[in-house]
Amino acid sequence: MWVSARLLLILALLFTGRLDAERCPRICICDSIKYQVMCLSKNLTEVPSNHIPQATQKLDLRGNEIKVIPLGTFLPIPYLTHLNLQKCKVESLEEGAFRGLGRLVYLNLAHNNIAFLYQESLDGLSSLQQLILENNRIEEIKPGAFGQLGFLRFLNLAKNSLVYLPDMVFQGLQLIKWINMSHNSLHVMSSEAFGGLPSLRRLSLDHNELQFLPTEALSRLSGTNRLDVGHNPMTYIGEEAIEMSSLKQLFLDNMALQEVSHRAFVKSPLLSMVDLHNNQLYVLQPLTEMGHLKKINLTGNPVLCTCSMRPFKEWATKARIHLDVTCAGPAAFKGEQLESLRAIDMKCGGYASEEKLLPSLATFTKDPEEDAVTCPKGCSCSTDFQHGNCENKGLQTIPKGFPCHTQLLDLRHNEFRSIPKGSFPGLKNLTSLHLQNCKIASLHPGAFQNLKSLVYLYLSNNDISSIDADVFEGTPQLAYLYLDHNAFIQIPKGAFNLLPNLFSLHLQHNSISQLLDHDLVGMRKLRWLYLTGNHISHVSPKALSHAKMLEKLHLDENSLQEVPTKSLRGLPSLSELKLSKNPIKYIGNRTFLPVARSLQHLYLDNMGLEQISSGAFTSLGPKIKSLYLEKNKMQHLPDLRNFTALQVINLSDIPFYCDCQLLPLRKWLDKLNLKVGATCGSPADVRGQKVKLTATFQSCPGWSTKKAKRTSSAKAAAGRSSMKRQRTGNRQVRGNKKSKA
Ligand SMILES: *[C@@H]1O[C@H](CO)[C@@H](O)[C@H](O)[C@H]1NC(C)=O
Ligand SMILES: *[C@@H]1O[C@H](CO)[C@@H](O)[C@H](O)[C@H]1NC(C)=O
Ligand SMILES: *[C@@H]1O[C@H](CO)[C@@H](O)[C@H](O)[C@H]1NC(C)=O
Ligand SMILES: *[C@@H]1O[C@H](CO)[C@@H](O)[C@H](O)[C@H]1NC(C)=O
Ligand SMILES: *[C@@H]1O[C@H](CO)[C@@H](O)[C@H](O)[C@H]1NC(C)=O
Ligand SMILES: *[C@@H]1O[C@H](CO)[C@@H](O)[C@H](O)[C@H]1NC(C)=O
Ligand SMILES: *[C@@H]1O[C@H](CO)[C@@H](O)[C@H](O)[C@H]1NC(C)=O
Repeated sequence: MWVSARLLLILALLFTGRLDAERCPRICICDSIKYQVMCLSKNLTEVPSNHIPQATQKLDLRGNEIKVIPLGTFLPIPYLTHLNLQKCKVESLEEGAFRGLGRLVYLNLAHNNIAFLYQESLDGLSSLQQLILENNRIEEIKPGAFGQLGFLRFLNLAKNSLVYLPDMVFQGLQLIKWINMSHNSLHVMSSEAFGGLPSLRRLSLDHNELQFLPTEALSRLSGTNRLDVGHNPMTYIGEEAIEMSSLKQLFLDNMALQEVSHRAFVKSPLLSMVDLHNNQLYVLQPLTEMGHLKKINLTGNPVLCTCSMRPFKEWATKARIHLDVTCAGPAAFKGEQLESLRAIDMKCGGYASEEKLLPSLATFTKDPEEDAVTCPKGCSCSTDFQHGNCENKGLQTIPKGFPCHTQLLDLRHNEFRSIPKGSFPGLKNLTSLHLQNCKIASLHPGAFQNLKSLVYLYLSNNDISSIDADVFEGTPQLAYLYLDHNAFIQIPKGAFNLLPNLFSLHLQHNSISQLLDHDLVGMRKLRWLYLTGNHISHVSPKALSHAKMLEKLHLDENSLQEVPTKSLRGLPSLSELKLSKNPIKYIGNRTFLPVARSLQHLYLDNMGLEQISSGAFTSLGPKIKSLYLEKNKMQHLPDLRNFTALQVINLSDIPFYCDCQLLPLRKWLDKLNLKVGATCGSPADVRGQKVKLTATFQSCPGWSTKKAKRTSSAKAAAGRSSMKRQRTGNRQVRGNKKSKA
C-alpha cells in the first residue's frame, strides 16, 4: 500500500516538473526512494536548497564549509525531517535561519564554530526533538533562544564554553527529557536558570568549573531523577546541598571532596544511589533520614577504616545499603572492603599516635616517591586530584615547586605578609588559589603572573589596603575575586582593568567610605558586587555605570542616608539590591524606578525607616519575588497590590498604625498566601494584634458587606474547617489515584 502511495507522490512530482534526478547536484547522492540527499565533504559553501528535490526529507551535509546559515535558507525544502550539518565550520546562525522547517525532528550542528545562540536563531523548529550542539564555542545563550522548541526531548550542549546560565535560559522546553552540558566551563547558575523545565529527567553538568552545588537553581528541577556533577572542583558538600524531590541517582565522582555533610541529601528523599568515587574523603558520617538509599560508591577515596568510620559502617549495614569502599588505612585493613570488616574491629586506640591517623593527603597519594620530587617540603600534593595543600604550616614565604598540573592550591593560614612578583611559576592549570588569613599587606606587581587559568582567587581576611594597577597582570580568566575582610578605605582603582572576565567581586567588611565615578572602570562583565559592612555614605551617580551587567548589589550595613537612586540608572539587569542596615529614614516617590524592570529581590530591613512615601514603589510589581521590610519604624506601607509574584515578604517588627488607612493592606494580606508577620503597633488597644486577625477594620468604610457579616473568629473557624475539608479531599484524590493505578 505505501509503496503505491510513494509512487503516486513520485508521479505527482514528475508531473509538476520536479524530477528528482534533474534536481540532484552532481556532487551529491540523491536517493529518491528514501527522499535522502547526501553531499559529504564537498567543500560546499552554502546549503544547496535550490538544487535538490523539494521533497527531500533527510539531508546530510557533513564536512562542508558553510560558515553562515542565512535567514530562510531552507524555505525551498520544507519537508526535511533530518538535517546533519556536522563539521561544516558554521560560525553563525542568523535569526530565522531554520524558518520553514516545521517538520524537522533531528538537527545536528556538532563540531562547528558557533559562539552565540540568539533569541531567534532556532525559530521555526516547532517539531524538533533532538538538537545536537556538541563541540561548538557557545559562550552565551540568550534567554528565549529555545522558546519555540516545545517538542524538544534531547538537547546536547556538551563541549562548549558556557560559563554562566542566566535566569530562564531554557524557557519553552516543555517536553525536554535530557540536557547535557558536560565539558563546559560553568561556574555559576542563576537561581532560576532551570525554571520552566517540568519534564526534565536527566541533567549532565559534569566536567565544569562548579565550586559549589547550585542548590537553589537545581531545586527547580522537581522531576529530575538523575544528576551528573562529577569532575567539578568542589571541596565539600554542605547541609541540604541538594534539594531535588525526585532525584534518584547522583554522581559526585572525581572531584576534590574532603567533606560531605551527613545532612547533605536530606532534602532529596528519593535518592537511591550516590557515587562519590575518586574524591578525598577519609571519613563519612551516617547519612540519616535517607529511606530509599541503596548504594554508595566510595572507591578511590582515602577512607580510614577506624572507629571514626564505625557509625557509618553500622548504619549502612542496618539500612542494607550496598557499599563500595576500599580502606586506605589503618595499615591492618589497607585494601580491604569496608563491607567485609566487623564494626567491632574498627578501632582507634592502639596505634603509635592518634596524630598519625589524621588525614594528610600526602599519605594517600599513589606514588609517594614521585611526589617527593614535585611537591614542596612540608606541603602535600595529590597527583590524583591535582591539589596542593600547605594550609596552616606557619610558612613565611610562598613555597615553589608544585606539580605543574596543580589545579587547586590551598595556602590558607600562613604568614606570607606580602606576595612578591612571580610567586607561582609554572602553574598554568591552576584554577583556584586560596590565600585567606595569611597576614598579607601587600601584593607586588606581577604577583600572580602566568596564572593563565586562574578563575578563583581568595584573599579574604588579610591586611590589604591598596592594589596597584598591574597586580593582576597575567590572570585574564580571573572571575571570582575575594578581597573581603581587608583594610581598603577605597575601591582599588585601575587594578580591575586587567580583569576583563571579573564576574564576582567581594569587598565586604572593609572600610570603604564612598563609591566614586571611576571606581569600577573595566568591570564590563561584573555581575555580583558585594560591599556589605563598609562605611559607605556616598555613591556618586556614575559610580556603577561601568558595571552594566550588574545583577547583585549588596550595600547593606553601610552609612547611606538615602537610596542612591541616580546611581542605579543604566543597570538593566540588576535583580537583587540589598540596603539593609543603612540609616535611611525616608524613601521618596519613584525611588526604584531605574531598576523596576529587572529588580526581583529588595532588602530594606533593619534601617530605622520612618516613612515610605506612597509612590515609593512606583513601577515595581510583578517582578518582585522577595521584599524584606522587617524591623523598621514606619506606620504605613504604600499600596502593594501590584506585587503579585511575591514568594517572601517580611513585615515583622513594623509598628503599623491599625486604623482605616491600613485597610487596603489588610485586604491585600487577606488574599496573600504568605506568612508576613505584620502586627499593629498602635493604637494602644490593638497593639500586638496581628494585622491579619484584628477586628479593628470591621468598622471601616469599604470593609465589604460580605466580610462584615463574619467576625474574625467566625472566619478563623471557617478557615479551619475548610482546611479540614481540603485535607480529606486530598486523601480522597490520592485514594482514587491509587485505585486507578
Ligand atoms: C576540497 O578542497 C580541498 C582543499 O582545497 C581539496 O584538496 C579537495 O580535493 C576538495 N574536495 C572536493 C570534493 O572538491
Ligand atoms: C554528554 O556529552 C559528553 C560529551 O560528548 C559525553 O561524553 C557524555 O557521555 C554525555 N553524557 C551522558 C550522560 O551521556
Ligand atoms: C564504584 O565506582 C568504580 C569506579 O567507577 C567502579 O569501578 C565500581 O564498579 C563502582 N562500584 C559499584 C558497586 O558500582
Ligand atoms: C592543563 O590543562 C589542559 C586542558 O585543560 C591539559 O591539556 C594539559 O595537559 C594540562 N597541563 C598539565 C601540565 O597538566
Ligand atoms: C508621591 O506620590 C503620591 C502619588 O503616588 C502623591 O500623592 C504624593 O504627593 C507624592 N509625594 C511627594 C513628596 O511628591
Ligand atoms: C499598578 O500597575 C498598574 C499597571 O501597570 C499601574 O497603572 C498602577 O499605577 C500600579 N499601581 C501602583 C500602586 O503602583
Ligand atoms: C522576618 O524577619 C524576622 C526577623 O529577622 C524573622 O525572625 C522572621 O522569621 C521573618 N519572617 C518571615 C515570614 O520571613
